[in-house]
Amino acid sequence: MARRILIAGNWKMNKTSREGAALVGEILAGLPSGNLPEIVVCPPYLTIPAVVDAARGSAVEVGAENVHWAESGAFTGEVSTAMLLDAGVTHVLVGHSERRQYFGETDETVNSRVKAALAAGLVVIACVGETLAEREAGETAAVIDRQVRKALEGVESTEKVVIAYEPVWAIGTGKTATPDMAQEVHAQIRAILRDLYGDAADGVRILYGGSMKPANAPELLAKPDIDGGLIGGASLKAPDFLALVKAGAEA
Ligand code: 13P
Repeated sequence: MARRILIAGNWKMNKTSREGAALVGEILAGLPSGNLPEIVVCPPYLTIPAVVDAARGSAVEVGAENVHWAESGAFTGEVSTAMLLDAGVTHVLVGHSERRQYFGETDETVNSRVKAALAAGLVVIACVGETLAEREAGETAAVIDRQVRKALEGVESTEKVVIAYEPVWAIGTGKTATPDMAQEVHAQIRAILRDLYGDAADGVRILYGGSMKPANAPELLAKPDIDGGLIGGASLKAPDFLALVKAGAEA
């Protein structure tokens, strides 16, 4: 089953509205003609409207970096699926390791967010990945197995599910998993999906994230189970992001 490559930028806590709109403008001006991968940028909540405006009618879609599971209510600081849809958001990251590390995100809250986002019709990019300590202790496979299964508990269709494998030790550190290391985990994730969903597993995109950049993207994207990238630092500069889009188009 052919899987369309997905190149997604996670802007994290970077860029004001004006800066975000300008970045999208630069990306749009530099997009290659011809076949494109699916392209998504995920800006901070407050700047989503400006980024949606800048991307309107283009090949660039807009995602959020998180979402709450409740429809509304007393959840200070949180944002609902209805608010994201109202703002023009189509995709949402869930369970990024920075949320797990710094903001108390657990496998259970990840699952609640995944289910709410899917029920609202958003495409979910569910993030998984082991820490350095877990890798060194030989626990990578067990951690990935637990995170993937729990994230998808109660999810019946994978139609709008994307998984992002982001080894925590490779995020923002300049250390990238080698293509072989990444492929090994991606293949494991595919096998878990097959166990849960049968042949539908072949249609699920599995992105790699962690210091992905123009120099290493072609090799990573050449691997059979690496279907795109979730990119932090290199998504903040138009030339780098455009080079990644190009790598995605050529993969
Ligand atoms: P870097 O590309 O900056 O390592 O970040 C990866 C990431 O966390 C994307 O979600």
